[in-house]
Amino acid sequence: EGVRLWGGRFAGGPSEALARLSASVHFDWRLAPYDIAGSRAHARVLHKAGLLTADELTRMLEGLDRLEADVADGSFTGTVADEDVHTALERGLLERLGPELGGKLRAGRSRNDQIATLFRMYLRDHARIIGDLLADLTEALVAQAEAHADVAMPGRTHLQHAQPVLLAHHLLAHAHALGRDAERLRQWDERTAVSPYGSGALAGSSLGLDPQAVAADLGFERGSVANSIDGTASRDFVAEFAFVTAMIGIDLSRIAEEIIIWNTKEFSFVTLDDAYATGSSIMPQKKNPDIAELARGKSGRLIGNLTGLLATLKALPLAYNRDLQEDKEPVFDSCDTLEVLLPAFTGMIATLRVNRERMEELAPAGFSLATDIAEWLVRQGVPFRVAHEVAGECVKFCEPRGMELDELTDEQLAAISEHLRPEVREVLDVRGALASRNGRGGTAPERVAEQLAEVRADLATQ
Ligand code: ARG
Repeated sequence: EGVRLWGGRFAGGPSEALARLSASVHFDWRLAPYDIAGSRAHARVLHKAGLLTADELTRMLEGLDRLEADVADGSFTGTVADEDVHTALERGLLERLGPELGGKLRAGRSRNDQIATLFRMYLRDHARIIGDLLADLTEALVAQAEAHADVAMPGRTHLQHAQPVLLAHHLLAHAHALGRDAERLRQWDERTAVSPYGSGALAGSSLGLDPQAVAADLGFERGSVANSIDGTASRDFVAEFAFVTAMIGIDLSRIAEEIIIWNTKEFSFVTLDDAYATGSSIMPQKKNPDIAELARGKSGRLIGNLTGLLATLKALPLAYNRDLQEDKEPVFDSCDTLEVLLPAFTGMIATLRVNRERMEELAPAGFSLATDIAEWLVRQGVPFRVAHEVAGECVKFCEPRGMELDELTDEQLAAISEHLRPEVREVLDVRGALASRNGRGGTAPERVAEQLAEVRADLATQ
């Protein structure tokens, strides 16, 4: 038989149908350790305010310790008869301490300020877990970049050959995106380090409790909320967390899509390690990139969690409304999703085998050095507009003849434009093209080495 936190003014118990609709214990039970931590902090401020004697505080903390141990080993759990995690834990405390002492803890707090606080604590912990997993993935990308520091590949725009780049440059582009996601998590955490405990239902408490002491006790570096209505009603911290996790999903999906394409027969840029690929139940030859596909698929789910949550929040009047109970499952799912996806994804990246010959063979293909002809001409004093036309003429000449740009003879070059002296051939070479892009952020080997060092240094400070 569960306890209820609000029986007094009701003639009878809730209908079965209401109880089933209203229950959240099946998904908010994971907040139990945070609820108990909150209860400890709350007991201490009740004592400070003279509402618990020193002896009562000692017995209360001891009861909470026992409850915590029983929750941890599974001997105490919430049941459907308990409406939510707070109700279940109150029952647990009453069972352990009796109604006299057990019934004192609820003074001056509400499930509204409790849930707003616990939810922040939970998400802050998971922001750290996800941040660490992101760092592992970034590390795997950086290690691949280091191991293939000199490998050239076709850089693409519109998925068409554009200009040769270093594979390391390309991999580091993904590492930078993930680095910004990790930074978003850290900045979100800083914004979220404010405790709503002490806000009560919405208006604060009349019992002389000290919200700042609770905040410090629970590790909220920036103290307690300045406004109790905002503290209990705001969920932008949840929406922002859902956005950052959705963005991580999107960034993973962009890597994933490339892995899927690179792993095709036609590309043959990479081979997946057997431990990170799957087979087919009917086609014996198959080796599928399921991790990458699941990452691509789960990014949709992460976006759904964000949009569902935003729809729940839209137009909600202040302060707490029960709609807000719908805020937890989406982001719990986002945490679970990333925490199971990221380790597999990292393993896939770390064990990826690169087909360097294939990448380098295709690096200059598709006239990807045409820009180099144009830029060579610019260095000879030709206006870029003309240079662009001339380089285009070279492509137009070669394409129908099945020739590459570096196969143009001196005569053919001269026939296309008087500016095209034989020396232009010096830039029609992948190494030369890479080395020439030597401004900050460019694909020249020494620039990419600098970038690598920067990303490494950044990882080390996290
Ligand atoms: N379970 C609720 C939630 O997740 C917290 C309880 C507040 N309930 C209430 N009737 N005021 O938002």
